[in-house]
Amino acid sequence: LLVFAGCAKQADAPAADGQTSDVLIGISMPTHSDESWLRHCEFTKDFLRELGYTKFDEQWAEDVPATQVNQIENMITKGAKVLVVASVDGGALTEVLAKAAKQGVKVIAYDRLLMNTPDVDCYVTFDNTKVGEAEAKYIIEKLGLDTGAEGPFNLEIFCGSPDDNNSYYFYDGAIALLQPYIDEGKIVVKSGQFGIEQCGIQNWDGAVAQTRMDNLITAYYSDGSTLDAVLVPYDGLSIGVISSLKNAGYGTADRPLPIVTGQDAEVASVKSIIAGEQAQTVWKDFRKPAEICAQMVDALVKGTEIPVNDTTTYDNGVKVVPAYLCEVDNIDASNYMKLFESGFYDKADDTWAGIVE
Ligand code: BGC
Repeated sequence: LLVFAGCAKQADAPAADGQTSDVLIGISMPTHSDESWLRHCEFTKDFLRELGYTKFDEQWAEDVPATQVNQIENMITKGAKVLVVASVDGGALTEVLAKAAKQGVKVIAYDRLLMNTPDVDCYVTFDNTKVGEAEAKYIIEKLGLDTGAEGPFNLEIFCGSPDDNNSYYFYDGAIALLQPYIDEGKIVVKSGQFGIEQCGIQNWDGAVAQTRMDNLITAYYSDGSTLDAVLVPYDGLSIGVISSLKNAGYGTADRPLPIVTGQDAEVASVKSIIAGEQAQTVWKDFRKPAEICAQMVDALVKGTEIPVNDTTTYDNGVKVVPAYLCEVDNIDASNYMKLFESGFYDKADDTWAGIVE
């Protein structure tokens, strides 16, 4: 564990009287509609229990920022000492976090940065730039651009929710690697749509991604031209994009699906990868941030050193938030068994019956 002395001091940590088991921890989660959050939450509680914490106030905002504000307000009222917040809209919590700070409540930004607030103590996430890089590298490699293929290859871009700070890191990481090929004309984005404003999918909604893909196909690919790759930053969107492509006739021997990327190694996408449809996903082993988060909670409760390994990257508009960045991994048809060998998934679960031996 890397511990930077720079953010070790916590002058006004909550008093560590009583037992850790008496300390109420607020856990504010964004939505059940993305299965990964449930796993993040369960793993975090597991690691907290290992450290002796037993009192949790767990709330789900179901993608409504105002709901999340109310839920956090209630946590403060109930006497939570530390809040773990995976935000819906990272910029919508400034006021309620100011209330938390006033009461001496400590705040951990979980996976998504809390923006425009001084009242966030630390941040645990993955290396979000590397997520985008992994997706772009995969496309570059599979198109053969790194080994001399000239193209031109047609690519379209999808981005995450505009209110999620991670979306910008994913996009920036990816476009930095793709741009040179776009400049050389080896990759062509026929729609001309780039960036979060044009390619962002509000609330990471797969149905919205499917509709956007339908529209792109109609507008730019009904002249018989073929789509070779789609940069997609999250599995829930990838599944929508693939449905749209299949409806438009992709996915046959004559017209194979384009390379479609993803993120999170969600069950549906792992199955799609095994079936030869989705090409790739970025695997984030949620056990890691959950473990670090539990250690952060404990440090904030006891006033000890907070585990961080990055003190420069995550500027939230008010300050650079000390962060711990976890590593990501690349999964495709050649190595998906890693997910099972590592215990991330259990092949004995019914959901994998007949799919994974
Ligand atoms: C997370 C991703 C997730 C996405 C959609 C992002 O903030 O980092 O892991 O796929 O939200 O929920």
